[in-house]
Amino acid sequence: MPENILIAVAWPYANAEIHVGNLTGSHLPGDIAARYHRLKGDKVLMITGTDSHGTPVTMSADKLGKPVEEVYKSYHEGFIDLFKQIGISYDLYTTTHSENHFKVSQTIFLALEKNGFLFKKTEPQWFSPGLKRFLPDRYIEGTCYICGTDGARSDQCDACGNVLDPTKLVNPKSKVEGDTSSPELRDTEHYFIDLSKLEPDVKKYLRERSSYMRDTVLGESLRKVEAEGLKPRAITRDLDWGIPVPVSEAGWETKKLYVWFEAVIGYLSAPIEWAQVSGQKDAWRDWWTNSKAKQYHFIGKDNIFFHTSLWPAELMGVGSAFMEIFTGEEIPLILPYDVPANQFMNLEGKKISGSRNWAVWGRDALTRFDPDAIRYYLTVNMPEAKDSDWDWAEFVARNNNELVATWGNLANRVLAFCYKNWDGHVPSLEDMGSGAETAPLRDADFELLKTIENGFNTVGAELEAVRLRSALGEAMKLATVVNQYLDVNAPWSAIKVDKAEAGKTVYTALKAIDSLKVMFAPFLPFTCEKLHTYFGYEIPLFGEQYTEEVSDSLGTHTVLRYKPVEGLQWKPSDLQPGKKLNQPGPLFKKLENEVIDVERAKLGK
Ligand code: MF3
Ligand code: ZN
Repeated sequence: MPENILIAVAWPYANAEIHVGNLTGSHLPGDIAARYHRLKGDKVLMITGTDSHGTPVTMSADKLGKPVEEVYKSYHEGFIDLFKQIGISYDLYTTTHSENHFKVSQTIFLALEKNGFLFKKTEPQWFSPGLKRFLPDRYIEGTCYICGTDGARSDQCDACGNVLDPTKLVNPKSKVEGDTSSPELRDTEHYFIDLSKLEPDVKKYLRERSSYMRDTVLGESLRKVEAEGLKPRAITRDLDWGIPVPVSEAGWETKKLYVWFEAVIGYLSAPIEWAQVSGQKDAWRDWWTNSKAKQYHFIGKDNIFFHTSLWPAELMGVGSAFMEIFTGEEIPLILPYDVPANQFMNLEGKKISGSRNWAVWGRDALTRFDPDAIRYYLTVNMPEAKDSDWDWAEFVARNNNELVATWGNLANRVLAFCYKNWDGHVPSLEDMGSGAETAPLRDADFELLKTIENGFNTVGAELEAVRLRSALGEAMKLATVVNQYLDVNAPWSAIKVDKAEAGKTVYTALKAIDSLKVMFAPFLPFTCEKLHTYFGYEIPLFGEQYTEEVSDSLGTHTVLRYKPVEGLQWKPSDLQPGKKLNQPGPLFKKLENEVIDVERAKLGK
């Protein structure tokens, strides 16, 4: 039975380029899952967009001395370019700076208010007497009152991963003024979401999912909520840039919704925008009001609290009130199914740091390496259970020994050998010497095909459970099995004595490769598509990515889209004897060892 699958990826802040750690943390695992479910025939919607508000973005604009709007747009365009080049197949990649997102976020706010989960409170916040303005979130840094690390941001500490109460920060300093002026505490009124009221629901929600959620995620969510509880959190800020608070009383014009409160709402607003731009206004409901739909959140570990506590709490607090306000129907929204958060990827043994240029930037790496080579290394090294490390020597070794030697050469040598010796066709029944009464294949051939066929279950089960490293490892093992089969049956020598026997081996190996192509496809979409054309198929494995401009009352924003192809492909090859092939070519490039030193020399400069 096809399932409705929402692949929801963390919204990247428009304050820095995307590096390999971001890719392997969320976008790539999301894409692999989306491509797998599409091949399986599931109804997939993969969405996210640029997180265009909040202090990370305004501070980056301050630094560049440019208007925020211009800065967010330039990062946004860059992200889209990267996702196209590396094949992150968003059905819709949009931005939080859209009329639709404003409206949906404000509706969630109103629904929570209607249900009694919001309250107003006046509290002291950091204020700069020099700048005459409040300094929320990242505008203040100091020492974390939980772990004692310096450089903690007032709302969150990267060192211990805790979300912080800004006023408790030790030795707070303004990021704008540094030591020249001390921030002081001033009273300001804000809206709060009463997470303590929702705590029992959040616990229940997480307990219901604890049999399959990653242990690392449960540790940062269920076990943490059980130990520490949930406290009310402010959901508005004293800022100019962002979504207006939907209240008419005076004094709120200078305040905006808190970036985390509204960015998570993007998981609802993006499907709604996707439905609008697709001309099927209500289509988003297949992933939001259908209780059988499954929603997956692909995020990095620093985002766990917001996706396992804040966002489900917002949804539980809203109940059916969102739909009541939005469409007038009393329909509840569903809750996320799983949050397969990843840990971090380091680089050559050190934490990735954009400011120190200790990073491998996505778009820069693509000027020198093929997308599938990068995707391969990012998947075998994906930080699913613990932090991992991008190591240039390992990148070259695994590219050459696994991608090129085990899989690429297998596909290439069999196809090239067949193309040359069987006149551009798969060996026909006649070529394999079979009369009407004799089966063309031998026991060993059937055995290989059986093993490969079984791979659809084993690789599929790993993909289903979002164990992507292991899924790719299983597929690679099967490629090794086909290589061993070829070593034993050596069609390159057999052809000289008995072409029919060689034909059986080649047909069997081609059929195995044709199946492996599907298993590798979610991970290596570009080369598998290429291989698919060598086999001469008409319908492609995947659809196309394209961009569009969307205009609304806030202006115009570019969106990245994906045009899906119909048809179930996650199944063993049905390669017919005698099928016409296309001229094959190599799929991957071997990398020289020089690459290692050249790339290492670029780091930290
Ligand atoms: N912008 C955040 C980050 O880069 C992630 C936001 S995810 C969302 O860490 F759910 F809030 F959208
Ligand atoms: Zn800390």
